[in-house]
Amino acid sequence: MNVAVIQYAPLLGNVESNIDRMRSAILSTAADVLVFPELATTGYFFTEPSQLLPLAQTMDDGRFSPLQDAVDRTRRIVVFGFAESADGALYNSALLLRPHSPPDMYRKTHLFYKERLVFSPGNTGFQVWRLDDWDCTLGIMICYDWRFPEAARSLALAGADLIVCPSNLVTNIWRLAMPVRALENKVYLAVANRTGREERDGETLLFNGDSTIIDPAGRVMVSASGTADNTVIAHIDPASTRDKSFNAINDIFADRRPDMYCTTRP
Ligand code: ACM
Repeated sequence: MNVAVIQYAPLLGNVESNIDRMRSAILSTAADVLVFPELATTGYFFTEPSQLLPLAQTMDDGRFSPLQDAVDRTRRIVVFGFAESADGALYNSALLLRPHSPPDMYRKTHLFYKERLVFSPGNTGFQVWRLDDWDCTLGIMICYDWRFPEAARSLALAGADLIVCPSNLVTNIWRLAMPVRALENKVYLAVANRTGREERDGETLLFNGDSTIIDPAGRVMVSASGTADNTVIAHIDPASTRDKSFNAINDIFADRRPDMYCTTRP
């Protein structure tokens, strides 16, 4: 199974152009799973719901049809971030497209910085999807979710072999932490990070690229290395993640002792 992370700078506020670009990438990237950045349809930096409402989409928005069509034609799995409008709220969501299947989504659980001014906290919880044709279980988290070990751990405990993480990263410590998220759960982790800069009300955010795919031992398999537009692809073996042992005696899941975690003294 080949996984691709696609690194570039989505255009702020230009949903049609961003979707066009994603469709071209789906048609031209020879991989089974394609991961695009967080908020890939709209760009990132919004500070009031009124700025984002005209750009937000429902999961079944007709403007996603060209992407679903490309997915059906190429038989690829696609995950990308979008601004979701649902039940009168805005969510920072990731859409999952699978060949000839209805779309599904994950809503970002942990909101970063000024996202809190715009989005409601996600209410889907962490979820996994079986990709039977590839014998792979896929989990999704979005960017700042990485800071919470519980995110990747919940996905791994639910059976994820591969965690994909559409991202718009603006700090650098993710480079230390993401490999740990992979190795402490023995899963593959694919981080699609955007590049470029966005300004709002005199404040600039710089997105730092270096999109990467990490193996279950925490080793970087491929990296987009820098902030140029780049797509990198890694070959993964999803079934190899299911053995959670690291020697003849220890197994990182079997050795867990949840009844010892978090006791309160009288
Ligand atoms: C982030 O969650 N976009 C840093």
